[in-house]
Amino acid sequence: MTDKKFVVTPWEVTGRVDYDRLVREFGTQHISPELATRLEEILGPASYLVRRRIFFSHRDLDLALRDYEKGRGFFLYTGRGPSGPMHIGHISQFYFTKLLQDKFKTNVYIQITDDEKFLEVKRNLSYMDTQHWAEENMLDILATGFDPDRTFIIQDTEFVGHSYPLILKIAKRINYNLTKAVFGFTGETNVGMLFYPSIQILPSLLEKRRCLIPAAIDQDPYWRIQRDIAEGLGYFKAAAIHSKFLPPLTGTQDKMSSSKPETAIYLNDDDKTVRRKINKRAFSGGQATVEEHRRLGGNPDTDVPFQWLYMFFEPDDQKLHKIREDYRSGRLLTGELKEILTEKVIGFLHEHRKRRDEAVNKVRLFKHDGALSQKMWKTDFEKL
Ligand code: TRP
Repeated sequence: MTDKKFVVTPWEVTGRVDYDRLVREFGTQHISPELATRLEEILGPASYLVRRRIFFSHRDLDLALRDYEKGRGFFLYTGRGPSGPMHIGHISQFYFTKLLQDKFKTNVYIQITDDEKFLEVKRNLSYMDTQHWAEENMLDILATGFDPDRTFIIQDTEFVGHSYPLILKIAKRINYNLTKAVFGFTGETNVGMLFYPSIQILPSLLEKRRCLIPAAIDQDPYWRIQRDIAEGLGYFKAAAIHSKFLPPLTGTQDKMSSSKPETAIYLNDDDKTVRRKINKRAFSGGQATVEEHRRLGGNPDTDVPFQWLYMFFEPDDQKLHKIREDYRSGRLLTGELKEILTEKVIGFLHEHRKRRDEAVNKVRLFKHDGALSQKMWKTDFEKL
């Protein structure tokens, strides 16, 4: 959706996002307190992303939970457009999906859309660029710890041929007027992009039960189309759980952008870079001088270091509460708050990269040799 104050589409997020308004205009639902509690009971203490409503909106999440309780189960689907190195804003969705996999014992399909990122003209990526970033991004995604026998990585340029018969069935049901209305396609849009939505819908139809999609809310337009056509093809309407965007370092507007490296922290930034970016770039809700800060206190709502702790880096509610109160009262200074975040980020990145190194030898399991991957490559899509 687009308006003067903010824009949220699968290709652009700018301005100060009004999430309540997105829920209204996209026609999704807020996660109610009851639904959040049901989910938290299954997810346990690690469910802070739900408790704090970082995942704040949904479609049919209640039905997915009912399917789980009834024993039919559901499966998970998420993805990544390999357009460049991944930063912290990209990775929380995968840690969350991995948590869902552990707790619900589900299959996970992860789509790597190297086709989409090649086709997006504005990105100006060569085919080989997208292949390179696909390889790199997969390692970061696998570092989050998915189960190799229950997870399948769909790299589009590799899997699309095998699954083409099902993609055709999807494509036949999506007409130009619909994609124009949903995505704003015009006569200038290349025909690859016009076809691409059929490919992003494919993974949601890989099993004959409900698919639950954890993703940032900008991807919802695809699920709207999926829900229009799935039942007609004999499948389930996709359920979705939508997250907010982690704000860029530079302020609580827009989302982190790979084209502005100073607004984000990359998963391969070294300690010095992390320290420098947080100290020099992170927008502070503190006062101009220490004296004023002690007297007036800081504003955690606009303070990016605080928001990053809230949205990802400090799972412990009590610790977070103390930081918020100390900051607000002026006991905690801006520099001290930044130091808390810096330590958290550096620690997290060290652990992440250790797991990333270990993932190098496992990629083939997720693409070909693990139990779920083998099953997918053996599926005869002509006969579905
Ligand atoms: N289009 C997404 C992007 O640009 C990638 C993607 C494909 C995706 N399938 C998905 C993201 C499912 C979330 C869920 O990053």
